[in-house]
Amino acid sequence: MALRVLVLGAAAGGGFPQWNSNNEASRRARAGDPAARPCTQSSLAVSADGRNWVLLNASPDLRQQINDNPQLHPKEGVRHSPIVSVVLTNGDVDHVSGLLTLRESHPLAVYGTGRVLSVLDGNSIFNVLNPAFVDRRRITLDQAFEPAAKDGRPSGVVIEPFSVPGKVALYLEDAGAGANFGTVEEDTIGLGLAERGGTAYCYYIPGCAAIPPGLGERLEGAPLVMFDGTLWRDDEMVVQQAGVKTGRRMGHLSMAGSEGTIAAFAALGIGRKVFLHINNTNPVLLADSPERAEAEAAGWEIGYDGMEIVL
Ligand code: MLT
Ligand code: MN
Repeated sequence: MALRVLVLGAAAGGGFPQWNSNNEASRRARAGDPAARPCTQSSLAVSADGRNWVLLNASPDLRQQINDNPQLHPKEGVRHSPIVSVVLTNGDVDHVSGLLTLRESHPLAVYGTGRVLSVLDGNSIFNVLNPAFVDRRRITLDQAFEPAAKDGRPSGVVIEPFSVPGKVALYLEDAGAGANFGTVEEDTIGLGLAERGGTAYCYYIPGCAAIPPGLGERLEGAPLVMFDGTLWRDDEMVVQQAGVKTGRRMGHLSMAGSEGTIAAFAALGIGRKVFLHINNTNPVLLADSPERAEAEAAGWEIGYDGMEIVL
């Protein structure tokens, strides 16, 4: 037994290259430059037995991600999928819209906080996941659970959901609700992932706005942390004229600087540190950039589609 983690999509919302991005990095990616490897949108799969997989977020690129990863190909009979359940970490478009790909009356279980499930309940298009086949199961913060298939078969992966600093999904922002746009605790969660009955464990936190002391203590000494790598610096989208928002405004802590993720993790003694959810403006996507060299020198790995880690 082991805990297997498969990166389905290492990019943030929009992917790399993003459909309307004409920046140099996106042009290099489209030209097939090996130092500018394309990445699909944010999602992970985890398995305790290598046969049954739990999706962590469902990206709009899910169809391509399934086709690209033989672990997720149908294996038996006329209709089959190794995907038994899906766990959502927030209600963002890049994390929930792939659920629509999982229609076709296939048995599944979808797990989310009450807040995130209320988004699915409030958008009738998600009823294409035929309720007769797809359960929606509510998770409770700080209560470990073992995702199971629709028929109750346990996955062997124990998941601990916990709130992290973040922001409500863009399309749910309430401008009248003050500085946090109506964000609540259940809007953005991190996941502790462990093998049932084993010793392997890791953390998956694809969106995070800050690292308060309690979060640092939780992550300290972990064998593997996969963490929000949206931006290199907070004003990067503004400087590149790719948008008007800072990372802070979007609910993402940036990598660089004395207040950044790289500095915050420096003393935590983590075995492997992997950036995921990387925005198309982030220079670490380019294998020959000084920022990539700086992140790697600080002990970080830059996630990529198809990256598989066995713990
Ligand atoms: C985010 O991670 O900030 C969101 O996915 C942004 C978006 O919805 O495009
Ligand atoms: Mn996102």
